[in-house]
Formats: sequence, structure tokens, C-alpha cells
Amino acid sequence: PAVTATAVINLDLEGPTINRHLYGHFAEHLGRCVYGGFWVGEDSPIPNEGGIRLDVVEALRALDIPNLRWPGGCFADEYHWRDGVGPREERPRMVNTHWGNVEENNHFGTHEFMALCELLCAEPYISGNVGSGTVREMSEWVEYLTRDGDSPMVRLRKANGRNEPWRVPFWGIGNETWGCGGNMRAEYSADLARQYATYCRDHGDNTLYRIASGASDDDYKWTETLMQQISCFGCEATPKNFFQALSVHHYTLSGPWEAKGSATVFDTDDYYRTMLSARGVDRVIAGHSAVMDVYDRGRTVGLVLDEWGTWWDVEPGTNPGFLFQQNTLRDALVASTHFDIFHKHAARLRMANIAQTVNVLQAMLLTDGDALVRTPTYHVFEMNKGHQDATSLAVHLRAPLARRAVGEAELETVSASASVKDGSLLVSLTNLDAERPVEVRLDLRGGTVGAPEARLLTAGRLQDHNTPEAAATVAPRAFEGVRSVDGGLTLTLPPHAFLTVRAPLT
Ligand code: AHR
Repeated sequence: PAVTATAVINLDLEGPTINRHLYGHFAEHLGRCVYGGFWVGEDSPIPNEGGIRLDVVEALRALDIPNLRWPGGCFADEYHWRDGVGPREERPRMVNTHWGNVEENNHFGTHEFMALCELLCAEPYISGNVGSGTVREMSEWVEYLTRDGDSPMVRLRKANGRNEPWRVPFWGIGNETWGCGGNMRAEYSADLARQYATYCRDHGDNTLYRIASGASDDDYKWTETLMQQISCFGCEATPKNFFQALSVHHYTLSGPWEAKGSATVFDTDDYYRTMLSARGVDRVIAGHSAVMDVYDRGRTVGLVLDEWGTWWDVEPGTNPGFLFQQNTLRDALVASTHFDIFHKHAARLRMANIAQTVNVLQAMLLTDGDALVRTPTYHVFEMNKGHQDATSLAVHLRAPLARRAVGEAELETVSASASVKDGSLLVSLTNLDAERPVEVRLDLRGGTVGAPEARLLTAGRLQDHNTPEAAATVAPRAFEGVRSVDGGLTLTLPPHAFLTVRAPLT
């Protein structure tokens, strides 16, 4: 029998706003993300502005990147910001012990990062060093960036060529303090988060959104330990809001860490296992949200998934410490499924950052010398950008046959989300089934829509990907198959495909 799905969407029942920061990004000093990816230096023959690659900027501008996290990741906890300011040739060098044991020349530092954010029109999210730094060092970095008037750090900033303070809205207090950020216990990390956050001051009208280093995957105890620091549940006096959010990290794999598999050589079983892992982010967000709800019923504290994405074996012949991987249609479907889940959790999930933007893990862009390739994942971000700051609409999905057995588990193969913004409905639909199309009916209630326009992202094979020689193997195209019917829209979604439908509310 044909696989069918009915998605009931009430156009007049508005849910929470989908924070644009759910479409955030991450750039670490890792492999060729910063050096070769964003940064080529002013003397490079590759067109650049002040050393920043302009083809990369142009491609990313089309995504409306809301924020960029930097300098790590694990690198953040061995990064000392003072090494990255002042004349470039005089900056001290260091060894990037986490990623490839390569020398870091510190040519890309604070000023270069802030210039990059300005070019991208993205808000900076800076991850401070808790693992090997000091409270004073972090406090002074905040002062250097955001204080106006006259002070020791302001004078240093001005001496380095920047008079005005920058606006820095997002500040990370360490990264993965349970692992590469210091191998701490939750209790100790929570105490340090309180201490460091205390000295990350709001200077002038710059208000920091402080994000404490949070849990990995299903470690709900970690979240509970952090929430106990900033909640008055079960305590006598209301503690201060030392930090405004806490993070969680969840990566998608098709098997164990020791055997992650190839980005491009995989079979259908690997593919379905991958999708099951991707869908696991729903459980992870729901689990942490449930713990947070106990301590913070008003949902004032944010959950920030500041690392997510696929993690495969590195491409053959590349440095294992550089985490360079190809990106196929499979990766795109991981991304589209994640966004549906993020939209569903919009009330608690305030920010998410894919790892990472260029040349590392599930990247938007891959560069090779002066060549640049937009990955299938890039296209999902572009097709979905209309959801940024839109009002979410709950989607009730009925698709009893849209399922696949994956080992002992079952994978739901249709995923959807919807929002309204500026008088327009945007629906995202993914068919994860590798072989079967699905007949979809969008049952629109509480309103009507005008002529729909749709775009489709798919390819002949799940393994298809883009290269400099074949840059548009996986690229969106107009889809003419959406029909208006009484009470909604119908369409047939091909196997392994992502589709967006936009229609004006009438
Ligand atoms: O994104 C790569 C690494 O994954 C990050 O540096 C770290 O935080 C995580 O373990």
C-alpha cells in the first residue's frame, strides 16, 4: 500500500516563537575551519577583506546566520585571548593539543573574529576558558570587548586599533567541563560556573547571556546539578541568576565512537541507524527540558544545544585531528529532521549551533584552495531560514505506515514542522524512507492559504554529494507538485527528500 501522511496544522493556534538563534553556527580553531576556511590572511591571492575569505562570507550571508560561536569547543579551554591581540607578527604561538597537535600562530584572534561577525551580520557567541584559564583572564576579556570610557582593558583595545566597544550578547562559561574542558565533576563545574559568571560583568548597556557548560547527551544529573544553582526550588532564599542558560551537546553517529563509518560509503542500514540517532535529539532535549521544568516552571532559563551534527571518520588521507568529512544527502536529512525537533521545543530551546561551519564535521561549506562547495546541509539551512523568528505552529502527524524497523527500535520516517511569519505559512517536510514515496495531505484548519510555492532537495542516491567539479549534484529545485484541495494542500514527497512549502495566508 502507498505510504500516506496527514499533517494537521491549525493556522490560528500560535505556538512559541522559533528563536532565530536555533540556526546558529560554530567556528573552532580546528583543522581548516578557521585557517583556510574563514581566514586566508591579507596577502592571500584568494579574495579577502582584512584576511577573511570573501567567497565564504558571501555564501554564508545567504543563510542569515544569527550567531557564531568561537573559539571552541575543546580549543576554548586552552585559548588565552591575550595571545590573539596586537600586531599579528608579534603574537605568541602555541600548540593546538586537542586538534592535530599543530602550531597555532594566533593570527585569527579577537579583532579578526569580531570583524568576521560584522561581515556575516552575525552576533558573537564567545566561549571563555575555564579549563586552563583564570577568572581574571575571562573577566578582562569581557571588559576588553564590551566596556566603554577609560579602563586598563579599554586602553589596550584602543591601542590595538578599536575605539568603540563591541556588542557581545552571548558568553560561554567553559566547554564540556565534564571532558576536554577540565574533566570536572558536575558539582565542581557548577561552582566554577557561578564564580566565573560573577566576574563576567555587564559593562554599559551590553548585557551578557551567560551559558554554563552543560551536559553531554543523556546526562540529566548534570543539568539538575546546574539548575540547583539558579533555582529557588527547595531552597530558602532565591539564588541569583548566575547564568541565564546551560548547554548540552548531542552528535549524530551511525554506530559507536570507535567505528563511526565513512561520510560517503554507507548502506541503507547505516543510513537508518543514523536517522535513529538523529531523532534521538528529541529525547535529549525533552529530557533536559523536563529536568529544567522542575526547577524553572516559567522557562526563564534557556537550553542551548551549542554543538550538534553528524560525526564520521575523516576523509581518507586527511589529518585525523582535523575532522574533515564529506557531506551527503544523508547529512541534509539529519539537519532537516533536527530543525523539526528544534521547532517543537522552541519554548525551552533558545539556541543551537551546528558543528561546524566550514571544513569540519557537518559543514555548510567545504574549501579546497580557492574552490568552495556548498554542501547539502547548507541548502537545508537556506531553505529553512524563513522559520527564524517565526511563530511556530504545532503539527499533528498521522502516518501509521511511515515507519521502518531499525534493530529493536522503530524509526518514524516522516518529519514535519510549520511556522507563520509576515502573513506567510512555511511548512518543512522530510521523507526519510530510502525507497518509498509518501503521499502527504496538509490539513490546514483555522484559516486558508493562497497559491503555494515549493522547493525540493533530493538526489538519486543518499550518498550523493557536491564537489568543486559537480557543485550542484545536491541542490534545491522548484517543485510543482503541490495541489490546493478543499481544506489544505496535497503532494507526493519522493523518497529521501526534504521539501519546503510556502503559501500566503489569505
Ligand atoms: O566539535 C568538535 C568537538 O566536539 C568540540 O571541540 C568539543 O566541544 C566536542 O567534543
